[in-house]
Amino acid sequence: MKTILVTRSSMPPMEEYIEEVRPLWESHWLTNMGVEHRKLEEGLREYLGVSNAALFTNGHSALECAFEALGLGKDGRDEVITTPFTFASTVHAIVRKGLRPVMADVRPSDYTIDPVSVESLVTERTCAIVPVHVYGNLCDVDAIQDIADRHGLKVLYDAAHAFGVRKNGASAASFGDASMLSFHATKVFNTVEGGAVCFRDPALGSELARWRNFGIEGPEDVACSGGNAKMDEFRAAMGVCNLRHVDEEIAKRARVEERYRERLEGVPGLKLIAPQPGVEHNHAYMPVFFLDSFGATRDGVFEALAEEGVGARKYFYPLVSDFACYRGRLDSSRTPVARGAAARVLCLPMYADLAPEDVDRICGIVLSCGGRG
Ligand SMILES: Cc1ncc(COP(=O)(O)O)c(C=O)c1O
Repeated sequence: MKTILVTRSSMPPMEEYIEEVRPLWESHWLTNMGVEHRKLEEGLREYLGVSNAALFTNGHSALECAFEALGLGKDGRDEVITTPFTFASTVHAIVRKGLRPVMADVRPSDYTIDPVSVESLVTERTCAIVPVHVYGNLCDVDAIQDIADRHGLKVLYDAAHAFGVRKNGASAASFGDASMLSFHATKVFNTVEGGAVCFRDPALGSELARWRNFGIEGPEDVACSGGNAKMDEFRAAMGVCNLRHVDEEIAKRARVEERYRERLEGVPGLKLIAPQPGVEHNHAYMPVFFLDSFGATRDGVFEALAEEGVGARKYFYPLVSDFACYRGRLDSSRTPVARGAAARVLCLPMYADLAPEDVDRICGIVLSCGGRG
């Protein structure tokens, strides 16, 4: 029985990576914003079409540093509106920065945050909105910016899933005051572990630089109690190499998704998220939602795939508001669309080199669970 994992990290040819890191044996400059760091930051600005980008050791640290750099909570307003249909990191970052997460519901069309729900939750204590481009699907960025402008709120996007996504040519990383990207090994573009903040106001650059490097301003000057969130040269070099191949990776993912859609689209009881008009997608994930009419539950399909050596992922389940650490503080009954999505979603294997025969096998197992084999 052939095992198929839910994802497989993209790697450049080994020789290419070795050539990229070889000069480090001459310079001995391994971290603290060296040559590879600068090369990757520049490369990303160009690729993403953003004017400002700062690298971090991972997406989560990038998010925490962005909260600090934006000064959230400093004026006494401490509520941040976000969504429970996300990875733990989004809400943990809010809580770890001493802010209070407020949960908006998501839209049934693409499971991104619902602007109507956001608007209803704004109070005089709200300081920011942290929307998530779930599965690489873009939030309603215009409606969110409109709410933020009318209420004087910052917008910090969790764009961990949205590397390379563009709407009418504009990068997903260009919206709001800032956007966090994750370069974790499982993402469309990876630096093994890594992340970035792309931002609008250039003044935010020096703030981010301080927060990621112990608050250090100069050899004898420390401005704030920052942590250590720097990306080292070996990871930056991995990014430099992977960036050369990312368009090809996304094109291959598009073909995998096409094959899935050919097999699963229109099957009664299965829901796939419709492509968003005007959006160039990155095909980061393959989420499928199992409705009652399918004839098998999400968990039943998950088990059947596991028995055949196929790894799928209940992503996002449970909702963040149902985590043990938030029990009694957050209430998932207030976000019924998110709760329904978490109960029904399964992300099927998705990576650039997933073979068409493997997609067919996975779909065969899924369909047979619903008696449609
Ligand atoms: C939606 C979301 N937010 C935040 C993160 C955190 O990113 P990282 O793993 O790079 O710290 C991830 C990724 O793992 C994610 O999927």
